[in-house]
Amino acid sequence: MIKSPVITVDGPSGSGKGTLCNRISRWLNWNLLDSGALYRILALLAQRENIPVSDGVGVAALAHDLDVQFRSAEGDEPVIVLLNGDDVSPQIRQEDCGSAASSLAAHSVVREAILGWQRSFQRPPGLVADGRDMGTVVFPNAELKVFLLANPHERAKRRYKQLNAKGINVKFPQLVGSIAERDERDKQRIHSPLKPADGAVVIDTSDRGRDDVFAQVAAIIEKRFGLPAMRT
Ligand code: DC
Repeated sequence: MIKSPVITVDGPSGSGKGTLCNRISRWLNWNLLDSGALYRILALLAQRENIPVSDGVGVAALAHDLDVQFRSAEGDEPVIVLLNGDDVSPQIRQEDCGSAASSLAAHSVVREAILGWQRSFQRPPGLVADGRDMGTVVFPNAELKVFLLANPHERAKRRYKQLNAKGINVKFPQLVGSIAERDERDKQRIHSPLKPADGAVVIDTSDRGRDDVFAQVAAIIEKRFGLPAMRT
């Protein structure tokens, strides 16, 4: 069976993965997997069911028969996430949900529970996968792997703007602390830690605009997939 191609985009929070993946999937008309949203959904369900994030087995048991769909949003807005048909984007984009997601994502039993589910998003004509371990673990044979990074202050600034625009109230110093804590946990965990995959194209987005980063990645995609150059 011929598998559809996959482009993975990994990196820490605020590195610009979401925007880049949105743009690539819209441009190529490919499917999108926001794997962070799956961990965030588990965090939301765990909270609703009163299951502590330390209970890996309990959280993993929540990962069954969930219908999650991603809808591309307008412009550079984060992707819209539908859980069993309901838009849960506002709840799962809260910073506390991100922290809880990072904690429960450290359990190998949770990661294994959603591995096949994540892979099921690989459908024609292709998939753009956004996460922390897309290129290293979930899609190790991806045709193109990208790893975005940016300095912590810049990433916190971007998250702050994003949350504020959504009317989510958060204090900047607390956000800096929460992002630093989440980064550490995601990088230091034993199972599928955040790190660039072998052969990944690593791009520092700290001092670069979204258009610039997209143009660079689009040029790589055109070359790698033999597409005609994109009109500007
Ligand atoms: O990308 P995000 O901020 O929505 O992800 C939320 C958390 O989920 C992140 O801090 C760690 C976890 N995560 C993960 O462990 N592996 C992924 N592929 C994606 C997210």
